[in-house]
Amino acid sequence: MPELLTLDRRDDGVAVVTLANGKVNALSQALVTELREAAAELSGNPPGAVVITGGDRIFAAGADISEFGGTEKAGPITALIHGALDAIAALPRFVIASVSGYALGGGCELALACDYRVAGPKAVFGQPEILLGVIPGGGGTQRLARLVGPSTAKALCITGRQVQAEEAFRIGLADEVVDDPMARALELAAVVASGPLQAQALAKQVIDAGLSTSLEEGLQAEQAAFVAAFGTEDSQIGVASFLEHGPGKAAFTGR
Ligand code: COA
Repeated sequence: MPELLTLDRRDDGVAVVTLANGKVNALSQALVTELREAAAELSGNPPGAVVITGGDRIFAAGADISEFGGTEKAGPITALIHGALDAIAALPRFVIASVSGYALGGGCELALACDYRVAGPKAVFGQPEILLGVIPGGGGTQRLARLVGPSTAKALCITGRQVQAEEAFRIGLADEVVDDPMARALELAAVVASGPLQAQALAKQVIDAGLSTSLEEGLQAEQAAFVAAFGTEDSQIGVASFLEHGPGKAAFTGR
């Protein structure tokens, strides 16, 4: 049983992962190991959608700095956090981060590994590792640059400057800023969870794959995924429902 997070599968098909590691939700190696295990469980038996959240004031304060100790420890730490965050990013479902407070360092990287970030008005994002004399080690240099562009990513990683919710929204780091991010994340996740899950998974997979390949290869992958989507039960339901009842009325099965 996990001790530093909870994994709650709700009746509406949404799975909620809540980090619960003391005051600041430091991403200790123990917590990251539990995150990796939670991702494995979600991958083995996928829910309809996933929401990942932390504390009200602190989503997660980043890697546990007290566990740092030179180059020898750095390798296993970065490998561990990459493994966990890659597993979350690879989940075949829409994963929403609900961020109401500080998402710093590995906390920001965890939010970046999600598909969508809903922020509260007091959310703060940043990669302050440089202030320790090091750099992000949980995917931040890559995922942040892909999201906000290389120049803004470099400025944030090289100065360690933290951005408040509105600026995060403006630069594309937060996708929405709302008063109650958890309520909004759950609402959106529930809508997604009732959708055609196989087609959603294909869309996510092709978009992610396309970010690390050429346009031509990405377009090829889309064609194959488009064909695969037509092999699902939900495509038959969706098309028949449109022809009979008009748009947006299909009751999907997730198959
Ligand atoms: N790892 C280990 N311990 C951490 C931590 C981290 N990432 N972040 C905070 N803590 C500890 C502090 O050392 C402090 O310990 P203490 O109570 O024994 O003194 C305690 O958590 C509370 O931190 P404090 O800074 O006093 O709380 P705050 O509410 O004023 O600020 C943060 C909270 C998250 C904004 C601030 O702690 C912070 O900036 N943390 C570091 C973020 C960071 O650099 N992350 C990248 C890590 S590579």
